[in-house]
Amino acid sequence: MGICLSYQIKTETTFYTASSGLDSRNASGNGTETSNSNSKRSSASIPPTPRSEGEILQSSNLRSYTFSELRAATRNFRPDSVVGEGGFGSVFKGWVDEHTLAASKPGTGIVIAVKKLNQEGWQGHREWLAEINYLGQLHHPNLVKLIGYCLEEDHRLLVYEFMPKGSMENHLFRRGSYYQPLSWSLRMKVALGAARGLAFLHNAETKVIYRDFKTSNILLDSDYNAKLSDFGLARDGPTGDQSHVSTRVMGTYGYAAPEYLSTGHLTAKSDVYSFGVVLLEILSGKKAIDKNRPTGEHNLVEWAKPYLTNKRRVFRVLDSRLEGQYLLNRAIKVANLAVQCLSMDPKSRPTMDEVVTALEQLQESKDVAKNDKKGRQVSQQSQSSFALKKSCRSGAEETPGKAKYPRPTPSLLST
Ligand SMILES: Nc1ncnc2c1ncn2[C@@H]1O[C@H](COP(=O)(O)OP(=O)(O)OP(=O)(O)O)[C@@H](O)[C@H]1O
Ligand SMILES: [Mg+2]
Repeated sequence: MGICLSYQIKTETTFYTASSGLDSRNASGNGTETSNSNSKRSSASIPPTPRSEGEILQSSNLRSYTFSELRAATRNFRPDSVVGEGGFGSVFKGWVDEHTLAASKPGTGIVIAVKKLNQEGWQGHREWLAEINYLGQLHHPNLVKLIGYCLEEDHRLLVYEFMPKGSMENHLFRRGSYYQPLSWSLRMKVALGAARGLAFLHNAETKVIYRDFKTSNILLDSDYNAKLSDFGLARDGPTGDQSHVSTRVMGTYGYAAPEYLSTGHLTAKSDVYSFGVVLLEILSGKKAIDKNRPTGEHNLVEWAKPYLTNKRRVFRVLDSRLEGQYLLNRAIKVANLAVQCLSMDPKSRPTMDEVVTALEQLQESKDVAKNDKKGRQVSQQSQSSFALKKSCRSGAEETPGKAKYPRPTPSLLST
């Protein structure tokens, strides 16, 4: 979840202001964020959605848990129940009854993930509330399911369906015996699932801009179906004749669109840019920002862009662990799609619907056999292209266990 570094604690609980145009569902509206100044929303376009914390919690259809219930469900938040850590706090594995959703004896019923806020202050609370506001209302196979929450004294927790394969970030960047490199077809499946999740948000009745699209927020079920999590930074998108919403620049370095960073103008195309960064990470197995790489290669997008559009040099970007698994023409198409998403001009970027269509066409299909011969040629070519690169890699990547690599965390990116 996002962290706003310089955020002042506020006490207000009402998020809807008709004059500023902030959407009523936007629990993360902070009073400094404004809509496009030239446009006004008609009252008819304002959905009858929650306005205050109380209303958000009441109308969410989520289960309200007591702290002691969740303590029981997670074996007292035992350290060995921790499945992950993020900026928001720790995530624990727990159990609830399949029918009543009440906390059950550990090991019985259905598995849940309990996210426990350890961050003090209003920002953490706002993101907690934004998650409930969005995930309490939006349901889609590519969005993680929020089951309930706990608000008790200082305790703020969120209860989700458990995603057995964890985050895409772990699969791409963690090393160790548990995390075998994801195959080309699984990577394409995850890319498509995540794209569908974003497309759904962008097509929602009130368009939602996700604003924190990155590999750690793509969770995977047992079949590697991708589900987006973490709506703490999400915002309602522009409506009517608005071209954008103006916001404080929040997000994660390496993923935020350049025009959003420089102007604070947020559009659905900002998410498309972030999708391009993630697609590049998926293709390359490299993190968006990595200061451990040689000079000139720290920023993946800057380094990779010239290679992506060059048929002969695209191999330099593709993950060497994918050798022999892809067809050249497909890899080039995916690389081209990433390039389009990463266009400096947001208008030149495709919509998420277009991305979904392109990725659907690139999933494994019958023309694999047709192109198999060509594919084999590619794999040989790619093996030799990567021989040199491989030998340049250091063994420093062998770091099993908890995530030791530098984690990209969301923050206020400018003031
Ligand atoms: N529903 C879930 N099921 C299984 N594991 C989960 C679930 N939600 C989160 N996790 C695990 O916990 C980790 C931490 O999640 P969290 O969303 O708190 O932080 P993050 O996304 O990694 O980082 P950030 O704070 O930047 O969003 C995830 O990377 C994932 O491995
Ligand atoms: Mg997250």
